Amino acid sequence: MLFSWHIFLFLVAGWEVNVTRKTRVYVVPDNETSLISGLQVCQPQGDVTAPNLVVVVCSAPGHIEARHAIRETWARHNISSVRIAFILGITTNVSLQALIEEENDGFRDIIQENFMDTYNNLTVKSVMMLKWFIRHCPHTHYLMKTDDDMFINTTLGMTTDTPVNMTRLLIGSLICRARPIIDANSKWYNPKYMYSKKFYPNYLSGTGYVMSRDVAIKLYRSALSTSLIHLEDVFITGICAAKAGVRPRNHPIFTYQHVGINCLHPKLATNHRLSPSQLRTAWRNRHTNCTMQSSTTTPRPHSNHGRHANIVPSRNTCQ
Ligand SMILES: *[C@@H]1O[C@H](CO)[C@@H](O)[C@H](O)[C@H]1NC(C)=O
Ligand SMILES: *[C@@H]1O[C@H](CO)[C@@H](O)[C@H](O)[C@H]1NC(C)=O
Ligand SMILES: *[C@@H]1O[C@H](CO)[C@@H](O)[C@H](O)[C@H]1NC(C)=O
Ligand SMILES: *[C@@H]1O[C@H](CO)[C@@H](O)[C@H](O)[C@H]1NC(C)=O
Ligand SMILES: *[C@@H]1O[C@H](CO)[C@@H](O)[C@H](O)[C@H]1NC(C)=O
Ligand SMILES: *[C@@H]1O[C@H](CO)[C@@H](O)[C@H](O)[C@H]1NC(C)=O
Ligand SMILES: *[C@@H]1O[C@H](CO)[C@@H](O)[C@H](O)[C@H]1NC(C)=O
Repeated sequence: MLFSWHIFLFLVAGWEVNVTRKTRVYVVPDNETSLISGLQVCQPQGDVTAPNLVVVVCSAPGHIEARHAIRETWARHNISSVRIAFILGITTNVSLQALIEEENDGFRDIIQENFMDTYNNLTVKSVMMLKWFIRHCPHTHYLMKTDDDMFINTTLGMTTDTPVNMTRLLIGSLICRARPIIDANSKWYNPKYMYSKKFYPNYLSGTGYVMSRDVAIKLYRSALSTSLIHLEDVFITGICAAKAGVRPRNHPIFTYQHVGINCLHPKLATNHRLSPSQLRTAWRNRHTNCTMQSSTTTPRPHSNHGRHANIVPSRNTCQ
């Protein structure tokens, strides 16, 4: 018994050594895989032919309250060129599935793709996001990925004065020379059979990153021919980006002014993990002049339903 317990510890649940990590097997690139298509997200509305930016929020089936909080707060913007959608996998809970369909009937902002929605399948979710974006948003220039416990400032998302090359764009909060955690007791354990190099390629925190359409296409193609690892940000913005020759870049917009959880003024995204009620409070207080000293910080530990590698304690800054 003790022996098998130890064996168990050294494997990543669901990604044991014998489980295929071929991305194509899960993403099925040539077939439609959406159970809920999210088709309307990128379609013309009013006088806007297509959104310029789509923010895809990675959410879990059961996080209904978190999705409501986002709809009531930062998704309630008035920028016609920005649309928000939630991407989920599937659940075996039939009554929860019925609730999700009802929710989508009301809001028409859900994408549900055909893979089991689990903590260790987040990389599949992100690759599905790329697939969905490429297929269904042909006229949309930018894609942002975030999670359902984030506060995104959609106002700033679309300023045009940012000095970046708008093709080959892959920006976020850059993490450099992070080492895989090989301690099997860690939540962010990444065993050698999944990734054997000493360092991860530089990558962007999964809490929020933005890419241009050409990059989405490159990352998707690259992902389809790369063995999955369960840390989605390392995989998409690190490993697949490096392979595709796309350089992830740090952008100051992804830092934030931290003046207490009730008084967030994200330039673009917070790296705070927010409960639905904290998000609502922060939103209510968004116009308050918070007098506490503000500071620019790098990402905080973030572990929502997400499993990001950016908690690596020994990570270095990029300068
Ligand atoms: C993809 O669709 C084709 C045609 O409908 C079908 O024959 C094939 O089995 C599907 N592939 C997978 C992996 O589901
Ligand atoms: C959007 O517009 C409506 C109606 O003009 C207004 O009530 C609401 O406050 C606006 N929302 C934001 C976030 O500016
Ligand atoms: C299924 O989902 C419903 C609705 O969210 C929940 O109340 C119930 O506890 C879930 N059942 C199981 C077995 O997880
Ligand atoms: C990921 O989803 C696939 C497809 O539904 C499923 O077969 C697999 O068990 C899931 N893996 C994990 C780690 O949950
Ligand atoms: C932007 O990227 C394209 C594609 O790599 C490149 O050809 C172009 O020179 C870049 N423009 C600037 C201003 O850096
Ligand atoms: C979004 O960013 C703008 C520009 O920096 C700022 O004025 C505004 O207060 C921010 N909104 C929120 C909700 O933090
Ligand atoms: C916020 O408070 C500071 C310090 O009291 C003051 O100098 C500043 O003008 C205020 N800003 C706004 C927008 O009210």
